Amino acid sequence: MKVYRLHDFSGPDGWKLGDEPSPTPGPGEVLVRVAAASINFRDLMISKGIYNPKMRLPRIPLSDAAGEVVANGPGAVRFEPGTRVSANFMARWVDGPLDDEKSASALGGELEGVLAEEVVLPECSLVKIPDSLSFEEAATLPCAAVTAWHGLFETGGLEPGSTVLTLGTGGVSVFAAQFARHAGMRVIATSSSDAKLERIRSLGASETVNYKTEPDWEKPVRDLTDGRGVDLVVEVGGSGTLPKSVRAVRTGGTIALIGVLTGAGQFDPTPILMRGIRLQGVFVGSRAMYEAMNRAIVAHGIKPVVDQVFAFDQAPDALRLMAGASHFGKIVIKV
Ligand SMILES: NC(=O)c1ccc[n+]([C@@H]2O[C@H](COP(=O)([O-])OP(=O)(O)OC[C@H]3O[C@@H](n4cnc5c(N)ncnc54)[C@H](OP(=O)(O)O)[C@@H]3O)[C@@H](O)[C@H]2O)c1
Repeated sequence: MKVYRLHDFSGPDGWKLGDEPSPTPGPGEVLVRVAAASINFRDLMISKGIYNPKMRLPRIPLSDAAGEVVANGPGAVRFEPGTRVSANFMARWVDGPLDDEKSASALGGELEGVLAEEVVLPECSLVKIPDSLSFEEAATLPCAAVTAWHGLFETGGLEPGSTVLTLGTGGVSVFAAQFARHAGMRVIATSSSDAKLERIRSLGASETVNYKTEPDWEKPVRDLTDGRGVDLVVEVGGSGTLPKSVRAVRTGGTIALIGVLTGAGQFDPTPILMRGIRLQGVFVGSRAMYEAMNRAIVAHGIKPVVDQVFAFDQAPDALRLMAGASHFGKIVIKV
């Protein structure tokens, strides 16, 4: 079978295609034929050695895929061969709160990833994918969508009519805008591009702000809420956006701290305590969250936004597209 492995930290060029024997599922494992995979900002950082410079190479990249069960290993009983499945980002996080053991089971990180024609996965990691989604659409869900779901509904304390602020129009933010809108919330979205703002409005954002032409974007956001501030910020920017998110959120509101697109840096925590803001770290989510999210996707007919689908032999180009940040939503590789 064909498989990509990251051989060095040279970015997309470090992904090399090779041939390996088909893996055999051991006890409690399942052999899955991969139909599609999708990439996340994390995969770009991993390929450059920024995410984990000590990662053991060569490693099969990517956490996100969808495919079909081929065979069960001894004792694996949850899925019949032919079932359309996807794996949770952290293979051993089934339910309950995160702990060190669960967080050390990330696919394409501590564990081998999914950018291969066939992969062996722990049975406990798998979820059935919605019939309403193609493999390409379902492959976008494990990281970005589950993270958005977790940030909004597992920690956010939101209710219908709450206002959610999404930053930029990458994978996590577009899912967050879709989920929040379908759950009856008001969505304010930012982007560097007016064309992307138009697209996010068509997906349910009621108001938008261009953060390039309005560098002090937190001010129009506050004005849009009559000076109160938003109830929750889907914070993907890191040190470049966090101080502004603190000013955009209401007193007593929540910042779901998800990403560091602008990198790490200095941050004054004083307003967090003076204004009773909840700063909640979010690290993807459990299989139970993934399953709850899938029920909402089915109930509301939500379709993931796929920017572009790459052929398997052009997979490194998918990573290059992500590096350019011209995409809207998710980038997919057909396997
Ligand atoms: N904690 C977790 O479990 C978790 C899970 C998934 C992702 N993440 C992290 O979340 C972040 C986003 O991931 P992703 O996969 O959605 O990335 P992505 O698809 O690559 O998102 C890229 C987009 O982010 C926007 N952006 C960049 N700089 C920005 C800024 N200064 N202010 C506002 N928006 C900005 C841009 O949107 P426009 O082009 O519209 O301006 C850009 O197109 C990354 O740091 C990633 O590592 C964390």
